[in-house]
Amino acid sequence: MQTFTTISEIRAWRKENPRVAFVPTMGNLHAGHLQLVREAKKRADKVIVSIFVNPTQFGVNEDFSTYPRTETRDCELLENEDCDAVFLPTVETIYSSNAQTTVSVSEISQNFCGASRAGHFDGVATVVCKLFNIVQPDVALFGLKDFQQFAVIQTMVRDLHLPVELVGVPTVRESDGLAMSSRNGYLTENERKIAPQLYKTLQNARENLATQTISDVEKSAISELENVGFVVDYFNVARRCDLKLVTENDDDLIILAAAKLGKTRLIDNL
Ligand code: PAF
Repeated sequence: MQTFTTISEIRAWRKENPRVAFVPTMGNLHAGHLQLVREAKKRADKVIVSIFVNPTQFGVNEDFSTYPRTETRDCELLENEDCDAVFLPTVETIYSSNAQTTVSVSEISQNFCGASRAGHFDGVATVVCKLFNIVQPDVALFGLKDFQQFAVIQTMVRDLHLPVELVGVPTVRESDGLAMSSRNGYLTENERKIAPQLYKTLQNARENLATQTISDVEKSAISELENVGFVVDYFNVARRCDLKLVTENDDDLIILAAAKLGKTRLIDNL
């Protein structure tokens, strides 16, 4: 596996390789990321993964400084997957000191995680746009656990006519249903036992949608989570195509949830 840290190295590598698949990550890789690499391999001759803990997508009181940085282990895992290249840029490579441009995807960034994490999706869209411009991939893969993030990136790619195909890969789960996440490592032993309830509540809500109003489904899901110790950020049913409020004619829905267990914020969807 080749390791690159500069943009010029990536550009030279890119010229030699006709079809490239790209998996952007913030590292601390788990089985969900490795699944993205496997899916990427099916879609291109070469696969490149970036590992970059992007400062602009963290709020002031969030976990940027403590976010797990496990580069050596991450590179070993990628080698084992036969990944072709890894891009490990510094913050200075991605953000020059006089950078003045931000990519902001207005509407779809507003609700859910966007409402509770001000500026988060501007940070995501900006870094993903920069990484797309550096790597110039034919195809890029993202996990669907971050469903709103995927929707924001799809909207950016459409609006800016970026020449990249996007693939959303289904969430990989632990055997008890907990969605894989780099932040699961923050959970205490007791919180880890409670955490799968988030997915169970999503499943119950899906079942309840057959017989109850959306508002009742949301209310009982929130109490179900609060009863076991979650502090719920949001639990909402939305239209899957644009994350807007559901109307009578909609039948393609998504249930989105974010909730805190102690200091750990978990998100999931169904
Ligand atoms: O999902 C992530 O890990 C990050 O938000 C991403 C897409 C790599 C951008 O920093």
